[in-house]
Amino acid sequence: MSRVHLVVAARPNFMKIAPLWNELSRRGGHELRLVHTGQHYDYCMSRLFFEDLRLPDPDVNLQAGSGSHAAQTAAVLTAYEGYLLEDRPDLAVVPGDVNSTLACSLAAAKLGVPVAHLEAGLRSFDESMPEEINRRLTDSLAAVLWTPSPDADENLAREGIAPGRVTRVGNCMIDSLKAMLPAAQARRNWEQQDLKPGDYAVVTLHRPGNVDDPARLRKIVDALAGLAGDLPVLWPVHPRTRDKLAALGLDGQGRNGLRLTGPLGYLDFLSLLGEAALAVTDSGGLQEETTVLGVHCLTVRPNTERPITCTEGTNRLVEPEGLLAAARLALSRGRAGAREPELWDGRAAVRAADDLEARLGR
Ligand code: UD1
Repeated sequence: MSRVHLVVAARPNFMKIAPLWNELSRRGGHELRLVHTGQHYDYCMSRLFFEDLRLPDPDVNLQAGSGSHAAQTAAVLTAYEGYLLEDRPDLAVVPGDVNSTLACSLAAAKLGVPVAHLEAGLRSFDESMPEEINRRLTDSLAAVLWTPSPDADENLAREGIAPGRVTRVGNCMIDSLKAMLPAAQARRNWEQQDLKPGDYAVVTLHRPGNVDDPARLRKIVDALAGLAGDLPVLWPVHPRTRDKLAALGLDGQGRNGLRLTGPLGYLDFLSLLGEAALAVTDSGGLQEETTVLGVHCLTVRPNTERPITCTEGTNRLVEPEGLLAAARLALSRGRAGAREPELWDGRAAVRAADDLEARLGR
């Protein structure tokens, strides 16, 4: 029996870890622990995703909660160290690039517990993004680096990471998408929202680079209000963004067809995204999901750590000033058409589990 910790912390982590949890559970022979750091804690940011993905309750919740970067990272670091001392695993798996990813990697590495990083090697080359710092440091601490795409392998090689530590497994988030899409489609959430398939846009925005800068946030909201004159625009608002919109007095933006709602669960959001004409976002996950679903995606950022979604997928980078024109151009082109980058085939968790077992000598 090998003991494996699977760490989750924030909204996008749940979709990345669920397929690996399912695959390792199915195989047996592993003592699995689902460790929730508590970085996200609201029902609609955490528990709802466990229900949608049919994940069991976490074995432990470290209840780190919100705080400054240092405070949040330190809270997870201290709490996870305590849990590692109580329940030492053979391997700790950490997904993505959130503060908890780095904190758990550091706690484990310092105690000599090997770390596997799921979604390793992505780089935006933009050190002003907290996630870029988390990614670089996590990759340097990890014993095993599971990458989603060839660009990630190249980034790690350039940084001098020994090739023996790296295995390209593909995209675990797309495993979840492929597994859950039929259930999501059956929800017809667009109907409940009074929308017509193929005739609305969805928006998600939460990056500090967009929402913490009042002038930039205003420009984005103005562009979205303009777009909402052309077709309905549904915007499920992240708690961080809700607070920033409220501070600017923009939370009542019911202009034209711009509709603000609370955050949605995984199945409801996937149902909406699948039938959308366009997504406007700054999320990493959405850039990938729209590529596979064949939905136009405009990413309001100057760079992306997921360049394959631009070169092979439906993603385009835009600045707030060009958002409205880019959206109109995308809409004029009709449906984008689905693409599947290599190994984004719904079997990434199978490859990660194979690699995990090979490395643990099973
Ligand atoms: C975090 C990740 C980001 C990821 C995002 C997904 C970091 C540095 N950032 O950003 O990479 O894309 O999650 O959503 O790790 N809040 C709530 N309820 C919650 C959680 C947060 O109200 O359940 C509010 C709090 O006011 C909190 C703020 O949202 O201060 C930001 O939360 P935090 O976890 O610090 O960062 P995110 O912006 O969610």
